[in-house]
Parts: sequence; structure tokens; C-alpha cells
Amino acid sequence: MTANPANLTIREPDDWHLHLRDDAMLALAADITARQFARAIVMPNLVPPVTTVDAAEAYRDRILAALPPGRRFTPLMTAYLTDEIDPDEIATGFTKGVFTACKLYPAGATTNSSAGVTDVRKIGPVLERMQTIGMPLLLHGEVTSSDIDIFDREAAFLETVLAPMLSDFPALKVVLEHITTTDSVQFVQDAGPTLAATITAHHLRIDRNALFEGGLRPHAYCLPVAKRRHHRTALRQAAVSGNPKFFLGTDSAPHQKQDKESACGCAGIFSAPVALESYALTFDEEGALDKLEAFASEFGPRFYELPFNEGTITLHRETQTVPETVTQGDVSVVPFHAGETLAWRAGERTDDVQMSQARA
Ligand code: DOR
Ligand code: ZN
Repeated sequence: MTANPANLTIREPDDWHLHLRDDAMLALAADITARQFARAIVMPNLVPPVTTVDAAEAYRDRILAALPPGRRFTPLMTAYLTDEIDPDEIATGFTKGVFTACKLYPAGATTNSSAGVTDVRKIGPVLERMQTIGMPLLLHGEVTSSDIDIFDREAAFLETVLAPMLSDFPALKVVLEHITTTDSVQFVQDAGPTLAATITAHHLRIDRNALFEGGLRPHAYCLPVAKRRHHRTALRQAAVSGNPKFFLGTDSAPHQKQDKESACGCAGIFSAPVALESYALTFDEEGALDKLEAFASEFGPRFYELPFNEGTITLHRETQTVPETVTQGDVSVVPFHAGETLAWRAGERTDDVQMSQARA
């Protein structure tokens, strides 16, 4: 990392949790993401979900086809776990290099999760196999019981699902995704090296008040839902701590504007257009810009045992006003920070051989 008052140049980052969708939305989202990130873990919650090696290969091809010529970007594909998933299919996909990880959505937890897992005990054989072959498990860490208050669902998951899972599968690599609570920060810090967590740009900035600021704010609605301010403080401390168990995962999740601004609005915040700028704002406010590179570009690949990216990206301390909507064809999405003026602007990624050589 090289820093001066005006710029911050870091190794190219990766996004360890991303929704790219399909069809027209994919056409809008793919390049917007690839401008900032060299690789991304791509969520499989399409309709129908990505549950087979063939489906993942075909989806990977559609993602690559949606990028402009010459754009370097590696989609890392995931398998959507269901109660019936076949351990052989998962292992074959991992061995072939098609699947990087499996995603566990508790059934009903979030967007397109109805085919998810109804009881973790039903997928014991898959988890066993993943543990054996070293394949990471990515968790949407919320219980789904309607008896449990929506603001308590992540904390309940830690006790009722995650703790038993870690003791049953002590060598399984697990990422607790998009954490939102002090409880999760503490849990991940206290657990062994097999457990890590991603933190979104939006959970570092909003708390639950953002949902009700002067009226109902559907564009601040995501899952897990933002919590009280003290939880946000704990997330910020974890992100800038330099602890390699916490790394970048945006959970950028585009929905059409009209599907958010609805009587039953979809969960998801589309942060991809200004993801790095948003993280930079937070790290800057915390006096920790020197910690951004490791969080964004090093701790993720280290956990996934993948090489670091070789190129760089520069964040310029220049103001930019984020558009109210991002539109392509019939698709229109309201981005995170819509209408705000941000103090940072990310430049283009460059394949900076000189910098890579200087590091060697
Ligand atoms: O806010 C969210 N949106 N959280 C999720 O877990 C899923 C995502 C989506 O796919 O829209
Ligand atoms: Zn997600």
C-alpha cells in the first residue's frame, strides 16, 4: 500500500459475497462490480437456484459473457445447499474447480431461499464431505422462526446452529457472512481459525434508524437487517482491527427500484457502484486507511487459500455525487449512497506489474 494525502493505492480487492443475478440485471451488475473487484464469490440464489455443476458452469459463462471485452474478472461460483443435495455433486464441482464454496440459506431466511435447508442435520453428509475436501461453507446466519424477533435472529443462529456445527465439524472452513452484531464479532474472534466473517459496506455505515429516517426507507432494507448503533460500532472495530478473520464481502444485492419501493419490498442494498469508496469512507473515519488493503485484498484470499491479485486500484480523494438511479435498458436500481456526495472516487483497476515486482 502506498498512501499520500490525495490517493490510496492498494492491491486489487475481491468481493467475498456478491449477488450478480441473471439476464438484464446481470448485464447491469457484472461490469459495475468488475470495475472494482478482480474476483467475487457469486451467490447462487437465482430462480431456480444453482445446485448443480452444470448450472454453475453455465452461470459462470453468462457472467463472463456479460462483461465488456478485456475486463479481467474471475467469478468464483457457489453451490446452493438444499435438503436433498448430493454430496458427490458438490465434491465433483469442487474438484473440477467449478464450485469454490457452498452456500447455506436457512429455508425462508431471505431472497430466493425457499429451497434452502430446513434443518442443518439433514445435510450432515454434505458437511462431512466438505470438511474432508477442504471446501468452505458460507452461512446466511439467521434463524427463520417467526417466534424470534427479527433483530435477534443472527444472535440466535450463533447459539442454536453455528456452535453445534463447529463442534460437529471442527475442521470445516466456515464463513459467517454479512455479520451485523456485537455477538457475531465476539463469536468469530473467540472461535478457532476455521471460522471467518465478511462485513458489508452498508452495515459499517447504517444502523436500524436508517430504515425509518423521516419515513419508511426501503433502500436501507437488507437482511440481516441493520441493528442498533452499538452493533455498528463493533463491526467497525472488527473491520479495522487488522484481524484476518474479518474481510470484505459487500452482499451487493440489486433489486429493481419498483421491487424495493413496494408494499412488500425486497431485501438488498446495491452497493457495487461505490463499494470501495464506501469502505474507504469508513476506514478513513476510523483513522485506519492503512488497514483497508489487508481487509479488502489479503485476508479473503488467505482464508480461501487463493493467490493475492497482482494489480492495483487507486482511491482518489476526490468528491463524486452518486447517481439517484443506475439504469440500463428496462432495469433501474437505486444504489447505496444514492444522491450523496462522497469524498472518495475509485479509479480503474490496473495490472500493475511494477508494483507486483516491487512486492516480490
Ligand atoms: O439483503 C439481502 N439481499 N440479503 C440477503 O441475504 C439476500 C440478498 C438478495 O439476494 O437480495
Ligand atoms: Zn447475500
